[in-house]
Amino acid sequence: MFDRKSLQNLIKEKLTDYKFIVVSNRQPYTFEYAGRKINCIKTIGGLVTALDPVMQTAGGTWIAYSSGDADADVLDKDNSVKIPYENPQYTQKLIFLTKEEENGYYYGYANQGLWPLCHIAYRQPVFSISDWEHYKNANKKFAESVVDAIGLEKPFVWLQDYHLTLCAGFIKEKKPDAVVSLFWHIPWPNPEVFRVCPQKNEILEGLLSNDLLGFHIKYHCHNFLETCELELEAKVDWEESAVTYKGHKTLIRDFPISIDFDKLSEMSSGEDVSRKVNELPTQIDPPYEVLALSIDRIDYTKGILEKIKAVDRFLEKYPEYQKRFVFFQKGALSRLHIKAYKHLIDEIQSLAEEINWKYRSGYWYPIVLLNTKIDYITHLALYRACDLCIVGSLHDGMNLVAKEFIAANTDNKGMLLLSQFTGAARELKNAVLINPFDADGFADAIKEAIEMPKEIKSERIIRMRENVKENNIFRWAGKFIKELIRI
Ligand code: G6P
Repeated sequence: MFDRKSLQNLIKEKLTDYKFIVVSNRQPYTFEYAGRKINCIKTIGGLVTALDPVMQTAGGTWIAYSSGDADADVLDKDNSVKIPYENPQYTQKLIFLTKEEENGYYYGYANQGLWPLCHIAYRQPVFSISDWEHYKNANKKFAESVVDAIGLEKPFVWLQDYHLTLCAGFIKEKKPDAVVSLFWHIPWPNPEVFRVCPQKNEILEGLLSNDLLGFHIKYHCHNFLETCELELEAKVDWEESAVTYKGHKTLIRDFPISIDFDKLSEMSSGEDVSRKVNELPTQIDPPYEVLALSIDRIDYTKGILEKIKAVDRFLEKYPEYQKRFVFFQKGALSRLHIKAYKHLIDEIQSLAEEINWKYRSGYWYPIVLLNTKIDYITHLALYRACDLCIVGSLHDGMNLVAKEFIAANTDNKGMLLLSQFTGAARELKNAVLINPFDADGFADAIKEAIEMPKEIKSERIIRMRENVKENNIFRWAGKFIKELIRI
């Protein structure tokens, strides 16, 4: 099995002469004031969950934009700080954006343009020319920081996600020999959808400045190849899965992202989590016999409203579960300066209140919403304590919550309800697959998962655990790095 040690060996053998640089919009650790004290906080979200263990193994530099109010006070003269703070393993180098730049680049072009464009969640993308200008400038700033970090060394640059589509082009202008790659963490849409983007050519050209471009699944690779064929005078080689544009070749590959299975599983079976698992039933209100859990960033792509509607349908269709079933939705607040996100929080709140009112009986009601932070021990304990973990994304590149639940489920109990529109559904075939748009089918799936015989649940969970253990985050990084080495 390819594990942390194998990745360390691969890096030692093949990358000692190279400087390893990861670049993402979101920083892995933020520094924030709590009174006069500075706290170092690990960022929540799939990207950091996946890449932090890789960087802790590989070392190198991670460049991102500063969003912590105390960041500036811990940085050295190169805008760098060693992280994690208690046990430094790699360097975090930050760039600074003005409020106006952040608004245009992050809240505007990236999250109101590209995000809805790439997710089939029926939100119309908004493309504004001033947001685009800020997006370009922010990409230039990231690229300058990369060039500065490279110095005289031979670099391996690994860009992350839709915020940085133009970065490779700017880096190559200054460092034509640099090996530059990008991993796309969200879906790539089909060409019909992508063609509405007014800046489509610049974005494709930017992406094709990379030497390697990674997507979670083959389907997204195919969408990308088709898009290039349709939009550019590019040579698309389907056999090799590569695009040659203006004499430069970019390899297009699928790399399904994952998690640090062993570490998560070990933590989850530890004493602290086990104690918490026993305490939870007395700490969660209202009382329950069957606990369904969801943990999401609050985003319209995650299908939170659809889940609440399915719970309503489930209790309507199967009233024997009234007064016994509780759905616990933990949500992390996100992108709050965007209207659609603010509006979504209100909608979720109001729908949950309506459903709770409809079914409330004595001390019992069916839906619990929690938007405040919880510690990691509780997070893992919830995975172990629940009878169902529901991942209901309307569309998702991968969705690592599904894999986290499987890794944390060390008792081999409970069941995963997984949207068929996630990348994870291609690997976790032993989950109960759902269509979140179909409230009736979703309600039936909740019943099916609850009533599935214990031994079958356990067998299916064990198979999924084997799969995630084997296809862990180190294997993902190893595959990506091996492909880069070939270049
Ligand atoms: C998705 C994206 C990541 C992003 C994360 C959290 O998983 O693919 O790039 O970091 O959401 O979103 P945020 O806007 O808070 O960084």
